[in-house]
Amino acid sequence: MNISNNLFSLENKNILITGSAGLLGKMHAEAIMAFGGNVILTDIDIEKVKNLSHDLNQKYVNQSIYYQMDITSEQSVLNVFNELKEKGIFVDTLINNAACNPAVGAVGMKANNRLENLDFDLWSKDLDVSLKGSVICSKIFGTEMSKRNFGNIINISSDLGIIAPDQRLYYKEGLPDDQQDVKPVSYSITKHGIIGLTKYLATYWADKGVRSNSISPGGVFNNQNTLFLSNVAKKIPLGRMANANEYQGAIIFLCSDASSYMNGANLVIDGGRSIW
Ligand SMILES: NC(=O)c1ccc[n+]([C@@H]2O[C@H](COP(=O)([O-])OP(=O)(O)OC[C@H]3O[C@@H](n4cnc5c(N)ncnc54)[C@H](O)[C@@H]3O)[C@@H](O)[C@H]2O)c1
Repeated sequence: MNISNNLFSLENKNILITGSAGLLGKMHAEAIMAFGGNVILTDIDIEKVKNLSHDLNQKYVNQSIYYQMDITSEQSVLNVFNELKEKGIFVDTLINNAACNPAVGAVGMKANNRLENLDFDLWSKDLDVSLKGSVICSKIFGTEMSKRNFGNIINISSDLGIIAPDQRLYYKEGLPDDQQDVKPVSYSITKHGIIGLTKYLATYWADKGVRSNSISPGGVFNNQNTLFLSNVAKKIPLGRMANANEYQGAIIFLCSDASSYMNGANLVIDGGRSIW
């Protein structure tokens, strides 16, 4: 039997990405377009997603379409589902990518993230976007996939979905302990939860041809300060954070038929950080 040289082709696949206007969503979108997929860009930020669609459509023959979609609102997701249905478009691959991922130390986050003074409004928002949002999208698009006996759900977790954050990385000299920034507990819980959701989905509709896998990406270069970069590099066998495009291969693999027998797995792509 011959292996097809278009095993990784995404032609004729309708792939919807949530939070697609963010740092990694854009990269996933471009990878899918480059491999011939029909990409449905969604984000709560309509301006950003419109601009992204415009830029991608200038570059590729296949055209992206975009929608404003707030994944924490079942109605908002249903509206997009119905608009796609009216156009005869059925999502065969859903990428649950959106999450609250503010940089530690970002304005408004400071100290509120610490467990001692945890702000439950921030906690609820993190859980709503990451977990409730992924469940709403899986419910709406996954149900249709199960009826059509074909589907693929890819969830974006994190290296912090399998290891604990090392809060020492964010330590700032001269600040009292109660003023030190930390990665919030909600991030660990949601990213671990995303892997749980993946396993749940991987078995739930398996008999209906719907599979599900997740990715645990390591941290991405994004204008972090040099002290942080040098400290985090020491924790990663490859000695550096990831470039934003270094998850594109995994996205293409998971969206394509090359991964047709992969189900319930978590692809860890972290430069080796979690093995040390
Ligand atoms: N950047 C990293 O270093 C890194 C590392 C590991 C995992 N991840 C994961 O990758 C995914 C993408 O991260 P990113 O760095 O691109 O984040 P980002 O903050 O750049 O992008 C997130 C996008 O989600 C959108 N969004 C927020 N709330 C939404 C809602 N209610 N409905 C729809 N869209 C909403 C935002 O508008 C934004 O465009 C996240 O799941 C994140 O946890 C990121």
